[in-house]
Formats: sequence, structure tokens, C-alpha cells
Amino acid sequence: MAKISDAVISEILSKTDIVDLISEKVSLSKKGKSYFGLCPFHNEKTPSFSVEPERKIFNCFSCGEKGNAIGFLQKTENLSFVEAVENLADRANVSIDFSKYKKDNPNKKLLEINQAASDFYKLYLNSTKHGVVAKEYLKNRGISDEVIDKFDIGLSPNDFDLLYKTLTEKGNLVSDLHDLGLVKQGKEENFYDLFRERIIFPIINEHGNVVGFSGRTYIDKKDGSPKYINSPQTKVFIKSNVLYNMNNAINEIKKNNRVVLFEGYMDVIAAYRANVKESVASMGTSLTLDQVRLIKKYTNNITICYDGDPAGVEATERAIKLFEKANMEIKIVLLPDKLDPDDYLKKYSAVDLNKFINNSWIDKIEFAYRKSNMNIDFTKMLDIEHFKKIIFDLIKNSSNTIIESYINRLSEDTKVSVESIRQDFNQYTKRNIRNLRTRNIQKVKIDRKYSVAERNLVNYYLKDFKYVKTFNNEFGEMFHINQMVRDIKMIIEDLHYKNLETSKESIILEEDLLKKMNPDQLHFYDNRVKYKMAELDDKEYRDLLGVIQDYQIYLVIKKLEDEIKDAPTMLEKIKLAEYRDVKIKEAKYGQR
Ligand code: UTP
Ligand code: MN
Repeated sequence: MAKISDAVISEILSKTDIVDLISEKVSLSKKGKSYFGLCPFHNEKTPSFSVEPERKIFNCFSCGEKGNAIGFLQKTENLSFVEAVENLADRANVSIDFSKYKKDNPNKKLLEINQAASDFYKLYLNSTKHGVVAKEYLKNRGISDEVIDKFDIGLSPNDFDLLYKTLTEKGNLVSDLHDLGLVKQGKEENFYDLFRERIIFPIINEHGNVVGFSGRTYIDKKDGSPKYINSPQTKVFIKSNVLYNMNNAINEIKKNNRVVLFEGYMDVIAAYRANVKESVASMGTSLTLDQVRLIKKYTNNITICYDGDPAGVEATERAIKLFEKANMEIKIVLLPDKLDPDDYLKKYSAVDLNKFINNSWIDKIEFAYRKSNMNIDFTKMLDIEHFKKIIFDLIKNSSNTIIESYINRLSEDTKVSVESIRQDFNQYTKRNIRNLRTRNIQKVKIDRKYSVAERNLVNYYLKDFKYVKTFNNEFGEMFHINQMVRDIKMIIEDLHYKNLETSKESIILEEDLLKKMNPDQLHFYDNRVKYKMAELDDKEYRDLLGVIQDYQIYLVIKKLEDEIKDAPTMLEKIKLAEYRDVKIKEAKYGQR
């Protein structure tokens, strides 16, 4: 294998804009000569990842990852060195034939045989009378030709050794077929096919190589053989490293920045039909750390959607622990009535499955709450005590909003008063959660503060019309807290535009304003506006606008409070309450 020369590499690197390249994956902002952003190689909240265009390198001073454009592509796209250089050459329009630099995959032959087997199974499904029956079965399960094609679904014949004969006739070694688990050796030294009369699901890795197969019965065999049989572990099929459908999912994962994880083939296919295409399956066995790493290479967001039966719930709990170790953002979809995703789609519809996965997920606290809740007898004091502690431990490091909502919920479920649960929580965790309601500022007071600011603004409008313009720009001409202020502002606007009809500059005189106002407005102006004619300055004006802005936020908060009251589920209440708290934090002036 030839080596790419240093000259070629420097040419390609010099033609690569590393900032452009990295910007595709990391949002960067310029500071001095460098660019900064959140490191794509570890989880962080403040940027410690920098890109230096002059030296053409990136560097994370928090996790230590560093390198040039080639290294960046290798790490983020899982490419070999040569593949990364080839990718950059493509981008830079440098045309070089890279094939002579590529190392032959030592398993190339085995992968080719698997591919040939897959092609054989596909052909058998699509061009035989057995295929017609199998397709009928698939069709009954909602699997169309389009889906068959997408997942490369095939069929193994019911002959004893048709695959064996076909592949060996083409010159493939029996030993290779045997190593791949495609054929088994019988007592009389003969060979027979592993998969017979089964619908075949090829298992394809993230590089697009067929690494193994799974075959499902589709006609009643009456011989007690298992529903699925799978390729054994082989040189190319290391089961703990592979997730079903990773090949199709990769681009969707990048697009949607999440993976949805299922238990089985049929579930991934159901999800695909429900337009959730960033989906993979752990194939019925316990999720492994390698599989978690494989997912984390592409995204930090995982939605676990295992079967809704007790086994699925247990498996979910184990999976959560693994994803937690990898610091991933976890969502859980718990399907009702012990259904699996495929059953759910069948019972309801593809649209419903999509909605359930996207809208009815819960977080890990809620999952643990529901799981513990299943085993609790709320008539037993000890059970309640135990349950309370489990929940306290789960929520103790969460935001006040979450704590408060679970305290309320515990109270509802255990029929113990909110006050006493709160006291227990405080005692148990040494935290001090006050009733959230006391944090809500009294309405009257808030309104006064805002309308004082609004009235104060009138003094500015009179001093300089630019203040009217700024206000209108930020809030719109019609926005007001007090109608009277709005009307007076309108009179000022009229005066301004009248002035401009006769002269180039408009100076609004107070006496003109007084003449234009009706008695109510005059009274309001004298008593509520003109109390402060001291010096006006831009900074104070900005502060006043800030207060008005808070008023807008306050309106949103008020609306959210109503929505929280009306929200049908706890999850929605929490989501709304969290959003409300973000808004409360945004309000800089009003809450002081
Ligand atoms: P399920 O029994 O949930 O299968 O097993 P499924 O995918 O929903 O398929 P249908 O709907 O019954 O046709 C989940 C996964 O466990 C593995 C397979 O990967 C399956 O998709 N499994 C299950 C086996 O490997 N062997 C078996 O005998 C059963
Ligand atoms: Mn199923």
C-alpha cells in the first residue's frame, strides 16, 4: 500500500478552510484571531474548544482533543486517515486517485460473501413462488415493497442447501461460508444452510457492510424452533458492537440529532413507517457499552423506546444506567398496555406512533417514579415511606420546579398533605424548599411598577421624537399598558408629523400638547406623568424600556401559569413550569 506524500497532504490542508469545515458541526464565534465553541468531543456547557485558522488546528483545553482538519474528520465522521484526506481533497477540488492508498480490509472476502448471501436472499424473495407467500406475510404486517427494499429484507429457501450450493459454485470457500455461520456441517461431513424458510433481515454495520443475518419464521413450523435465529458471532459480526439499522439511520441521526433505540427489527421497521428514521435496535439482547459508544459518536441525545412489557421496563432501566454513564441526554418512551412499537402502530396508526414517540416521552425521574409506583401499596405506611425516599433521592438535585411538582404529586398519590411532604423532603435532604407560590410577586405591585415606567416614558417622547421611534420599533405602535399613555403618545406623534409638514425639524412644545389633550388626558398628564421633569438620559430610558420588556414577559408568564393549571398531564405541567422559570429569569427589571 502506497503512502500519500507529505506534499499532497500539505496542499490539501492549505486548500482547506478549517473554520468552515468545523462550523458544519460546531457553532463557532470569533474572539481575536481564534474561534470558540462547545467541544464536540465531550459534554460541556461553556466553550473550551478553539479553532485557530492561522495554524489550521483545533484544540480543546478541557478534554485535550486537538489536531488538524484531517484529524477532525477522522474523529467526527469515523473515517480512516486516507478516507479523511480523500474527503478534504473532494471539498477542495483536488483530484487524486486514492484507491492505491487504501488498506485492504482483511475481512474483505468475508464481507463480500455476506453481501452475496444477502443478494441471494433478496432475489429469492422477489422471484420465487415461496417469495410470493413470504411477501403476503410481510404485507399483512404492513411491510410494503418500499420497506422491503429499504431494509434489504430477503428470504431463505426451504431447500436443505441451496445457498451453500449457489455460493460454492461461484467459487467461494466452504470454510469461509462456515466461518460466517451461513452453513453448518452435518454428521455425514455434508454442509447445510443455517437459514431455511425464514424471512431474512441482514444486519448491516455503519460502514454499509453486511455483517450478519437474522431469520424469522413466517409459517408455522410446529417444530418448536425459535422465532428468530441469528448468525453466530464471527470475525465480522461482533454482536456487542452492532446496532440494527445503523447504516440507514446515520444520516437521519445527524439531521435530527438523536437516536431512537428499540428492541427489535420489527420495531425499527414500524418506526420507519411512522417516519422516525433515526432508529436502531439492540436486537433483543442487553445493550452494551460499545453500542452506547457507537451511538454517542453521532449524537448525545437518546430516546429509549423498548417494549412496554415488564421485561422491556427492566431493560429500559439498565439502558438508562449505561447512557447516564456516557453523560447522554435521555428520554424514555413507555408504550401503554405492554405493547411494543409494532403492536402500537397496528393497534392505532403510524401517525399515532410518531406522535407518541415525539410527544409522550418522559424523563428518567418520571420513569423511575412510574416504575417504583407500580410496586407500591399506598395503603401501607412503610411502603409510602420507602417510596418517598426513593423519589426524594431522585429529585433532590433538580430544580425547585421539578421538586415542587413531585412533592405535589407525591401528596396526591400518597394522600399525605403537601405541607408535610415538603417538610419531610427538607428534613431528608437538608434543603429548604419553600412553597413556590410565595415566589410569585403580587400582581398589583407588578402592574404598578410597569405602568409607572410607561408613564415616565411620556417625558422622553416630549423631549425627543427619537424616543417614540425606538419604543415603536421595539414594541409596536399599538402596544400599551395604560390606554391613556397610548393616546397621549398618539397626540405627540400627530404633532411631530404636523411639524414636519411645515419645517425640517420638529420640536414638540409642551404647550401644543396641552392644547390638544382632552380634560381627562390633561388631568392624567398633570398628576401621573409630569411628576418628574428632572434630567432625562438615555441610560434611564433604556432601563425603562427594559421594564416594559419585562411586562411583555410577565404577560407570557401569566399565560403560562394558566396553561400549567389546565395542563392534562404532570409531564406537560413540568415542561411548562420549566419554560415559565426560564422566562422569570429573563425578566431583569420587574422581579428585583
Ligand atoms: P421480539 O420478540 O420483540 O421480536 O424480540 P420483534 O422484533 O417484535 O418481532 P415480531 O414482531 O415478533 O416479529 C425483539 C428482538 O429480540 C431478538 C430479535 O432481534 C428481535 O427483533 N430475538 C427475539 C431473537 O434474536 N431471537 C428470538 O427468538 C426472539
Ligand atoms: Mn413485535
